[in-house]
Amino acid sequence: MSPARRDAPLTRRDLLKAAGLASAGLALPPRPLEGAPPPPRRPLEASMLGVPFARHETVRLAIVGTGLRGRSVLNEWLAVDGVRITALCDIVPEKAARAAKMVTDAGQPMPALYTDGERDFERLVARDDIDIVYTATPWEWHVPVCLAAMTHGKHAATEVPAASTIEDCWALVRTSEATRRHCLMMENCCYNFNEMLVDAMVKAGAFGDVLYAEAAYIHDLRELLFEDRDEGLWRRRPHTERRGNFYPTHGLGPVAWYLDIHKGDRFDYLVSMSTPERGLTAWREDHVPADSPKWQETYIAGDLNSSLVKTVRGKTILLQHNVTLPTPYSRLNAVRGTRGAFEDYPPRLFLEGQPGGHAWRPLDDEVKARYTHPLWQRIGEIARQKGGHGGMDYIMAYRLIETMREGLPPDFDVYDAAAWSAPWPLSEASLALSSAPVRFPDFTRGDWQREARP
Ligand SMILES: NC(=O)c1ccc[n+]([C@@H]2O[C@H](COP(=O)([O-])OP(=O)(O)OC[C@H]3O[C@@H](n4cnc5c(N)ncnc54)[C@H](O)[C@@H]3O)[C@@H](O)[C@H]2O)c1
Repeated sequence: MSPARRDAPLTRRDLLKAAGLASAGLALPPRPLEGAPPPPRRPLEASMLGVPFARHETVRLAIVGTGLRGRSVLNEWLAVDGVRITALCDIVPEKAARAAKMVTDAGQPMPALYTDGERDFERLVARDDIDIVYTATPWEWHVPVCLAAMTHGKHAATEVPAASTIEDCWALVRTSEATRRHCLMMENCCYNFNEMLVDAMVKAGAFGDVLYAEAAYIHDLRELLFEDRDEGLWRRRPHTERRGNFYPTHGLGPVAWYLDIHKGDRFDYLVSMSTPERGLTAWREDHVPADSPKWQETYIAGDLNSSLVKTVRGKTILLQHNVTLPTPYSRLNAVRGTRGAFEDYPPRLFLEGQPGGHAWRPLDDEVKARYTHPLWQRIGEIARQKGGHGGMDYIMAYRLIETMREGLPPDFDVYDAAAWSAPWPLSEASLALSSAPVRFPDFTRGDWQREARP
């Protein structure tokens, strides 16, 4: 999706182009459909895998997009030591002013404000008192803001998903490699208590060889999508223009950590299927007045998208997206290995040899005592008090600042941002080809084999 609004539904050719794949009109391929081969690195481009930050005594941070999410995460940054908010940008001056008041109420100097239209972030990124620019804008602005930040020598942090086309994923990778600036997708769910505990269990070998995982974003957003404010102003539109899994990263990020993606394995290809669309249409019939312009819209994205992702090492991931049907929240968050299994919502565990036969056990105190992630042991209490989403947002913010202050490599990088976002265009391309398998590009250009995660 580009910032320029599209008025016509995408054609099959558009979809393949968006996915950066070979020409349309192919018969169903017997093997995964190859995208364009990874472009060779240009002289200035070099891997950003494992590249540490320079040490920063104080991290000077700017925010583009001070809506619900931008202000929520601002709260987290303000609660972490060693952060100074130097500039804020939003197309709505009142939203920037609300965020600025949060900054001054926290005892920091008044940040510079940029509220002069959709491209005012370009003036913000030219300042010389910013180390990292965090964008919490609508999806279509994530890539333009990150590219502008990196080309002006700043690290970039973006809300999810980082990009919605393969071409834009590559633009992030190549710009990060050429500018030597990190581009991080701030996937907060990687820092949730259960996900970090499961990751610790996987790394300790508690599940044996992990062969299969499940990831999802299942969240009934129908009411929010039809609101005349906040996300209702922009998040319904993709349902009129695009298909597939729009929001793969909340479930897939943690699973990528479990499966050592880019640390010895890599997403290879996916196949995708969607149900028909009924959810938004039915909601509109029940809730939207007949004279509303929303009745001009046609929703084309199927309600429940299911994709299967195969990794190069042969592991399999079920990846789902469903925001338009009445259902309780779930990211699935499941793993299955040769010695045990975990499923979430509610969390439950099975380890081979446990008493009680083939029955789940809860995440009890014994398991928590043994496998709670060190970060949660260290700052879990304060995270729960201060942080949004049960504390994971605080841990995410804390950890980014810690890595920047101590001069460590970040927990994720531009390759993760690209590969975790890629299922949107790839699922769309697979759907256009009657669910044919479609390959992930190797955004690391071979470096995924270089190092196993400690
Ligand atoms: N990680 C999470 O848990 C989580 C939760 C909610 C939202 N999000 C993500 O955060 C992002 C923002 O979502 P939100 O809920 O805050 O939406 P929102 O509509 O409340 O906020 C978006 C803000 O961006 C501003 N904006 C729009 N175009 C802009 C531009 N060109 N320059 C500067 N500002 C611009 C809007 O005025 C608005 O204030 C989305 O990418 C969403 O997917 C992530």
